[in-house]
Amino acid sequence: MSFPSTAAEFGNHLMVQLDQLAALSESSEYLIRRCFTPEHRQANELVGRWMAEAGMTVRTDEIGNVIGRYEGLLPGAPALLTGSHLDTVIDAGRFDGMLGVLTPIACVNALNQADRRFDFAIEVIGFADEEGVRFQSTYLGSRAIAGTFDPLLLERVDAGGIRMDTAMRGFGLDPERVGEARRQRDEVLAFAELHIEQGPVLESEDLALGIVTAIAGATRLAVTLRGEAGHAGTVPMGLRRDALAAGAEIVLAVEERCRRGEKLVGTVGRLEASPGAVNVIPGAVTLTLDLRSPEDALRRAALADIKAAIAEIATRRAIDVTVEQTHDAASAPCAAWMQSQLGNAVESVCGRVLSLPSGAGHDAAAMTALTDVGMIFVRCKGGISHNRAESITAVDADAGARALLHFFRQFRMES
Ligand code: HGY
Ligand code: MN
Ligand code: MN
Repeated sequence: MSFPSTAAEFGNHLMVQLDQLAALSESSEYLIRRCFTPEHRQANELVGRWMAEAGMTVRTDEIGNVIGRYEGLLPGAPALLTGSHLDTVIDAGRFDGMLGVLTPIACVNALNQADRRFDFAIEVIGFADEEGVRFQSTYLGSRAIAGTFDPLLLERVDAGGIRMDTAMRGFGLDPERVGEARRQRDEVLAFAELHIEQGPVLESEDLALGIVTAIAGATRLAVTLRGEAGHAGTVPMGLRRDALAAGAEIVLAVEERCRRGEKLVGTVGRLEASPGAVNVIPGAVTLTLDLRSPEDALRRAALADIKAAIAEIATRRAIDVTVEQTHDAASAPCAAWMQSQLGNAVESVCGRVLSLPSGAGHDAAAMTALTDVGMIFVRCKGGISHNRAESITAVDADAGARALLHFFRQFRMES
């Protein structure tokens, strides 16, 4: 596939590549690509090929990130990092993460075709796992690079009972060496991520692109409720220890607490009841909570209230409960100087700049532990995401590429 040599061709070229990448799915029914699966390997290989065609040297690091490096004028120069994640949620759209990997590759190709190099290198990263779908902990790839990967996560087990370290070995990685994925501060200049907005603001403002001010902090819980399975026909209502009824009350308690302030969102994304027969009172329930706010104090206060509500509901219903915190990330600011430089790039394409917070988490949040970060958002139809209906236009994909290319060309290290 010939790469676009002019900005006008970026959009159509990206849409074709996004379709090719979306075909690499664990399911023939919908898009799902989790970390350390054969489909993850196929995606790394395909993206690695595109990186090489764009003039980059390609490697896979110790956590399974695929990384393309476009050297500067002098070999070994510190790098401007960019990229996003290659893993997906379940029944995912084709743009979440992937657009932010393919767009910088197309930009680097345009630079390479023009034989343009800078006094810094550019590294494009396809992160191995951002969504946390397989092992319930997000940012595995970016945390490893940022040096904040928790080795205890290696013991996490997926839905099929496979440990993370076992899955990594099956992928050809040595879990004992994850620490070697860490990058040093002095070899990195900044991290810039292009990503779909996953919200309705840019569309409502009739803007193709925006600049991110901060990324919301998030806490995730895994809650287990144990009551008593029983005969649906013989156990009187007052004598039941119905785990699903307790779970339902918890779901509504989360919704009520998070409706109390516009800067809070809380979601019970998964709720599983067992044994799951029509005529058996559910004896056990597992459910997840995803709680977010741009303000950490608000999120922490809501978390305390929700944990108290869970305890009260379980006690009142004589249900045994365990609450495990599976993820916790503070809200992450985008550096003012990065917002300014990315803003200039967006303004060069859109004529004006809208800055907005991100309710969604991104690898950029984890990368703040290593370096300053900034993000460009691309409009998505109806703000729909984490849904196969996720959609952007080729024209907006083109705009994102032209803005990112402008940012590369004008990039100046500040701090
Ligand atoms: O869940 C999120 O916010 C992101 O899509 N991982
Ligand atoms: Mn996502
Ligand atoms: Mn994403």
